[in-house]
Amino acid sequence: MTIYADNAATTKMSRTAIEAMLPYLETDYGNPSSLHSVGQHAAEALAGVRQTVADCLGCAPRELIFTSGGSEADNQALISAARIGERKGKKHIISTAFEHHAVLHTLKKLEREGFTVELLPVGAVGTVTAQQVAAAIRADTCLVSVMYANNEIGSILPIAEIGAVCRERGVLFHTDAVQAAGHLPIDVREQSIDLLSLSGHKFHGPKGVGALYARQGIPLTSLIEGGAQERGKRAGTENIPAIVGMAAALREACAHLDENAAKVSALRDRLIAGLAEIPHSALNGDPVDRLPGNVSFCFEGIEGESLLLLLDAAGICASSGSACTSGSLDPSHVLLAIGRPHEVAHGSLRLSLCEWNTDDRILAEVPRVVAYLRDMSPMWRDLVSGKRKFIL
Ligand SMILES: Cc1ncc(COP(=O)(O)O)c(C=O)c1O
Repeated sequence: MTIYADNAATTKMSRTAIEAMLPYLETDYGNPSSLHSVGQHAAEALAGVRQTVADCLGCAPRELIFTSGGSEADNQALISAARIGERKGKKHIISTAFEHHAVLHTLKKLEREGFTVELLPVGAVGTVTAQQVAAAIRADTCLVSVMYANNEIGSILPIAEIGAVCRERGVLFHTDAVQAAGHLPIDVREQSIDLLSLSGHKFHGPKGVGALYARQGIPLTSLIEGGAQERGKRAGTENIPAIVGMAAALREACAHLDENAAKVSALRDRLIAGLAEIPHSALNGDPVDRLPGNVSFCFEGIEGESLLLLLDAAGICASSGSACTSGSLDPSHVLLAIGRPHEVAHGSLRLSLCEWNTDDRILAEVPRVVAYLRDMSPMWRDLVSGKRKFIL
C-alpha cells in the first residue's frame, strides 16, 4: 500500500467534496450569469458557498472572490496592494525570504516596475517577529506580505501580532494562508488581516480553485480582462463545481480542525522523534509553532532526489522541498533562508501528513534508505574519514 505523505503538495479529494460537486457537473451545470433557471441554480449555489467560505474565515461574503488557486490569489493581492500604494506615492513592500514563489516572483516583477522590496530574514527556525516587521515599516511602505505557515518547513508565523502592527501603522497586510487554511484557525478580523490567499487542493478540495479575501473597501485590481464576474474583479465564467467542492472541503476541514490537528500532530511528533535518531540529521522549521502535518529534515551526506526515488520504490510518496522546486537541482530557497548550507540543503526530506495517514512504516524505511545512500556516497566517506567536516 502506498503511503502518501506529500499533502503539502496536494491532497486527495474528500468524499464530501466530490459529492458536493457532482450535481454541478451533472444537472446544475448552468452559467451563473444566465438569467434562466438552470443558470440561476448555479448562481444560488455560488452565493451559498461564498457564505460558507466567508464563515470559515470570519469575513463577509462580499469580501471574497474565487480564483484559479493560491498562485493567482497571491498575484492579485500583491498587485492590488501595489497599485493602491503607487497611487499614494508609496512603493516600499516588506515580505520574507521564504515566501512561496507565487509571492516572491510577483515581488520581483513589482521591483522591475520600480518598487523597493525588503525581504526580512527568517532566522534559523524560520520565522519573523512582529518587532522585525515594525522596525522595517517606513513612511512609504504600502504592503507587508508574510505567509501564515511555510510550505516546506512548516513554521507558523505570528500573524495576529504582525497584523496588529500593520493595522496600527496603516499598512496593508497580506498573508498567504495556502498551507494554513483548513488546518489552522483563521479569523481575518481578529488577526487584522487585510488580504488573504487560499487554495482548494491543500485541504482535500479540488485543484485549480482558490479564494482571495480582501477587506471591505480595499479595491482589487483585476488580472484578467473580460466579463463582470466576481463583481468585476475576476473575469471568466466561475468554475462552479470546483468552487462548490472547495467550499465543502473547507467547511468539513474547519468543523474537524482541532480533532484533525491533534491526530496529525501526534503522528508528526512520533515521526520527528524517530527521524531525529538518525545521526547527522536536523529538523527544519520551528519545533513548536509548526503545521500539524509537517515533518522536514536535512540528512547530511545524501542527495534528497535519490532519497525520494528510493522512498517511492518503497511505496512512500514524499518531497524534498516544494513540488514546484523539486525536479530542479537548485537547493530550496527556504532551506537556504534558514541558513542550511547548500550541501546540507540538498539532503532534505519533507513528509507532509493528513488525517488519513496512519502507517508509520515511514519510521523503518527512512533510516534504512538514508543508511543505504550514505553507504554509497563519496561525500559521506569523506565526512566519516574526516576529509570533510560534519555540519550537522
Ligand atoms: C504557501 C503556498 N502558496 C501558494 C501556493 C500556490 O497554490 P496553487 O497551487 O493553488 O497555485 C502553494 C502551493 O504549493 C503554497 O504552498
